[in-house]
Amino acid sequence: MNHYIKITDLPSIASAVQEAIALKLDPYKYRSLGAQKTLVMLFFNASLRTRLSTEKAAKHLGMDVIVLNVTDAWQLEFETGVVMNLDKSEHVKEAAQVISQYADILAVRAFPSLTDKDKDLSEWILNSFVTHATVPIVNMESATGHPLQALADAITIEELKTKQKPKVVLSWAPHPKVLPHAVANSFIEMMQTIEVDFSITHPEGYELNLDIVKDTPVIYDQEEALKDADFVYVKNWSNYKDYGKIISQDPNWMMTKEKLSTAKFMHCLPVRRNVVVEDAVLDSEQSVVIAQSNNRTYAAQLVLKKILENG
Ligand code: CP
Repeated sequence: MNHYIKITDLPSIASAVQEAIALKLDPYKYRSLGAQKTLVMLFFNASLRTRLSTEKAAKHLGMDVIVLNVTDAWQLEFETGVVMNLDKSEHVKEAAQVISQYADILAVRAFPSLTDKDKDLSEWILNSFVTHATVPIVNMESATGHPLQALADAITIEELKTKQKPKVVLSWAPHPKVLPHAVANSFIEMMQTIEVDFSITHPEGYELNLDIVKDTPVIYDQEEALKDADFVYVKNWSNYKDYGKIISQDPNWMMTKEKLSTAKFMHCLPVRRNVVVEDAVLDSEQSVVIAQSNNRTYAAQLVLKKILENG
């Protein structure tokens, strides 16, 4: 594997999940694989889990790690052919090549604008690094996808499922801020790949990108959708059609213990208590959010290992 931009970059998702579970049992088994190699992590946006779990994963593999918050560096220009006489001091063409001299793998987090749909769909920041860097790129959440989170989620379901083909529901939740579609997109793509009975529930008007949803059932009645669910993944996203808008904050869509019934509760975190999900769920045994965040380490470790093995 060269880059990890989307889940389909993995040679086999089923094998990746099993291999990540094996890494968890013996995290330092491949500690010499990354010796004298450096992971550079570039953050255009805030992070807790991605930053710490990816660094931990790299260290399990013996790598050195450098983190740069882009707000601490020169402002980057991404457009080509522009006269750079305003606020942008450095072009991504130079920056990506320079960073590549310090890195063996470059991981990038760059959220969408949620104001310019075409630009966001083009993945202009992430793809600029894919184009101009000379080392493998790892997506630590981009405008449209969060494949490290999706791999961690698949690992969590594999570890906790009690039947061969569990019922998994992705359920929209209210949120006061305009949030991206990346987590939902990658989770959908992952659920379409592994052996689960998968459906999506959200209020009418919150339809996601149909090129990603494809033929996954969408059920507008949340109660009906949640019936007999084994795993309920709760996530807010802003409107996709009326791009980046909030058209509903209906508190009736918040996940409650009653609605969850016997299912396990999943969320990528961070999560707003008593807005997205009530305390009684997060504080119960049914919540697996801490297990999910632990699995971020082994998802990242599996990805870095595959890239290092590729030479
Ligand atoms: N789930 C996730 O990516 O968390 P952070 O934004 O804290 O990295």
